[in-house]
Amino acid sequence: MDNSISRKDFIRYSAATSAAMLLNALHSYAGEYQINKIRVAIIGCGSVSNRYIPHLQTSPKVEIVALCDIKYERTLEQKKQYNLNASTYKNIDELLAGVPFDMMVTITDMQAHGDLNKKALLAGKHVWSEKPMANTYAEGNALLELAKSKNLKLWGAPAVVNSPQFAFMNKMIQEGKLGRIASAHGQYGHTGPTWSAFFYEKGGGSMPDLGVYNIATLTALLGPAKSIMAMTSIVNPIRVVDDKGTVKVEAEDNAHLLLDHGKGIISHVMCGFNYFDPHGHEAKGQQLHSIQIFGDKANMRLIGYDWETYGVYVDDSWEKPAALYESETGGYQWQEGATKVAESIVGNTTPKINVEHALHVLEIIESARKSSAEGKKIYLTSSFKWPLF
Ligand SMILES: NC(=O)c1ccc[n+]([C@@H]2O[C@H](COP(=O)([O-])OP(=O)(O)OC[C@H]3O[C@@H](n4cnc5c(N)ncnc54)[C@H](O)[C@@H]3O)[C@@H](O)[C@H]2O)c1
Repeated sequence: MDNSISRKDFIRYSAATSAAMLLNALHSYAGEYQINKIRVAIIGCGSVSNRYIPHLQTSPKVEIVALCDIKYERTLEQKKQYNLNASTYKNIDELLAGVPFDMMVTITDMQAHGDLNKKALLAGKHVWSEKPMANTYAEGNALLELAKSKNLKLWGAPAVVNSPQFAFMNKMIQEGKLGRIASAHGQYGHTGPTWSAFFYEKGGGSMPDLGVYNIATLTALLGPAKSIMAMTSIVNPIRVVDDKGTVKVEAEDNAHLLLDHGKGIISHVMCGFNYFDPHGHEAKGQQLHSIQIFGDKANMRLIGYDWETYGVYVDDSWEKPAALYESETGGYQWQEGATKVAESIVGNTTPKINVEHALHVLEIIESARKSSAEGKKIYLTSSFKWPLF
């Protein structure tokens, strides 16, 4: 086969490529300051894409231009299901070489996030990543350094700090309404995902999938943790899942964490894939509390889950019963993170979600495993600007 091209074709091709590159560069540059729409590519078209895609579609500032999944048929199904005018790709290399875009939304298996996020950053894309943003704290830190060096944005789920209930609790604490805070508790569990094996494989586990919400909430409310002690276990060594049938459980499906936030404040988180909960994975309508904060003047109980909240009870009286505050969602939805950060790029604003906070949560999860394996307290090295707002 003759692969040579004529000089005329070469000049024409080079000119077209340069023009495309220039337009792309101008768009990226404008993405920081001027554009009124951001082009988004979604990688991973599984379960959670059914929550992300419709939410991204609600924003006039977001355009979904590409879908990618190694199970390629899923990109076609989602394109049809949500009536998207998007190009579809079989892997990240094809995606990055394809239609231009500004931000990648990573919602694949947890174990793939670090590599995919790195490739996207190297290709000059902003990144929103589902949790965890990387497999290790060191890998997450390297991603953030890479993003900074290229003047790009990187964020990690969850978006719990966006809820009005979080804002209320944060204000109560910052205004000293609870008095001297001593202790807090968070819990989140159900009987585990049934569709994909990665939740149970190495790099999966109940901490990055479930505990991550409580850890994010409690560190955001009480401040970065200084040290951690934890015990983790595997309660159910075998699972049957849709994609791989019977699999061996390699990551913890039960975890208890004790966090020292300084000034004597200690919090506790428990999470697992073996907790019967009649509200199930969807968790709709839960009226029990999942977060409690205790001070010497008052205590607060967050109703529902910190990612799907229904209000906050405050107990601050010897005579009156606890009162319910902030029972409206105010439009907050747990799947809104990617939309909100995309809009922040368009508007050149700073979202509440903060990448250093997500990195701190990642270090806590990694350190909890180390603490459990070695039977000792682990001192944390990461931190974030606190209070968040
Ligand atoms: N499902 C939920 O309700 C939910 C809620 C919140 C967060 N999450 C998080 O979202 C992420 C995805 O979870 P899910 O439940 O949608 O899983 P899923 O198994 O349903 O979907 C993951 C998809 O990613 C694809 N994928 C895997 N590796 C890939 C790669 N290298 N390149 C391209 N595509 C790849 C898979 O083929 C699959 O279609 C996880 O981090 C999970 O913790 C899920």
